[in-house]
Amino acid sequence: MMRFTGILSVFVTLFVLVSCQSDEEIKRQKYITEGILVYKNNCANCHQNKGEGLAALYPPLAGSDYLANKNSVICLIRYGQKGPIIVNGKPYNRPMPAQPQLSDLEVAELVTYIYNEWGGEKKLIGVKEVTPILDTCVK
Ligand code: HEC
Repeated sequence: MMRFTGILSVFVTLFVLVSCQSDEEIKRQKYITEGILVYKNNCANCHQNKGEGLAALYPPLAGSDYLANKNSVICLIRYGQKGPIIVNGKPYNRPMPAQPQLSDLEVAELVTYIYNEWGGEKKLIGVKEVTPILDTCVK
């Protein structure tokens, strides 16, 4: 009986913990899970699975100082990027193709994944935040 009560209280505690997770946290995890897929299908070819980049050709996303400007990152995902850029002190200069096939939601999932995985953030970057930024990009 004692033992049963012990096990039961573990379950009750777990249940309370799980149901206390905020909706925001559940959404963040969902975005990250989707973001990983979007990344694997559209970005990993060049930037590699762990975001480490590829030699002097493709810059890294993991630990990239370029991530400091989130608006530029959001815009370059949709519209591509060309001309010389410096990432972590190293020069790159190859065109990155635009990704017009990605919806606003997919861009938001991707950006949430990138910043949570490699940008030192622990927060959701929702589609409501991303759409107005996409509207301001210079096309
Ligand atoms: C065909 C290869 C290729 C693909 C696919 C690609 N990129 Fe890039 N990306 C590049 C190159 C090359 C640059 C540097 C552009 C330059 O030199 O101006 C770059 C730059 C970047 C940068 C800014 C620099 C940095 O490393 O922080 C980010 C962020 C980025 N890409 C994210 C993405 C994301 C997210 C995807 C997937 C939607 C993606 N890229 C798909 C080649 C690619």
